[in-house]
Amino acid sequence: MAQPSAGRSTVPVPTPAAASFPAAAPAGDPQAGLHAIREDLGDCQRCKLAGGRKTIVFGQGDPRARLMFVGEAPGADEDEQGLAFVGRAGQLLTKIIEAIGLRREDVFIANVLKCRPPQNRNPETDEILSCQPFLERQIEAIRPTVLVGLGKFAAQWLLKTAEPITRLRGRLGDYAAAGPGAPIKVMATYHPAYLLRNPGAKKDVWEDMKVVRELLKE
Ligand code: URA
Repeated sequence: MAQPSAGRSTVPVPTPAAASFPAAAPAGDPQAGLHAIREDLGDCQRCKLAGGRKTIVFGQGDPRARLMFVGEAPGADEDEQGLAFVGRAGQLLTKIIEAIGLRREDVFIANVLKCRPPQNRNPETDEILSCQPFLERQIEAIRPTVLVGLGKFAAQWLLKTAEPITRLRGRLGDYAAAGPGAPIKVMATYHPAYLLRNPGAKKDVWEDMKVVRELLKE
């Protein structure tokens, strides 16, 4: 999980935000929008991860956040608690958020997948595609100023590319959310779980987060 290294990617390059999916409503009320999305998700059985999960991890935070983080998938702690990024990687993510002067409650945190893959294996294409409409709608409801993709799977999903994280990291891109409005800025950076194994890469993430901090001042 959360490998920085390249190799050929199996991540699908998804189509632009799903136009055929029920509209997030009501416009202008992110909290109600997120609530509607959670209702639609229900006791999701759309992919094979449903059988092994304990909890759906929808994501949490401020529905009006200007900064939204997208990770890969829940791990054991997240599956247990139903919250994104609450394990060791999550503690490091909290520090990353605080380093730019924000609190966890100020941002929104979600994942490409809402259910834990067995043994924390990499997300598979069918799983990513099953979850995709829900993450798209979450982004549309929140409409953050900046999206941060944590690790290969999130960065590739947000940027609709199969380029390796080593090439994507530190480069700003755009996410074209459905509906009116300018594209949302995307910063791709390393996953906190990778940083736990490779603390030397923290300086790169700090550089990326300084760019994010500047974007949030605009
Ligand atoms: N890793 C992720 O990508 N997401 C989580 O929620 C926890 C760990």
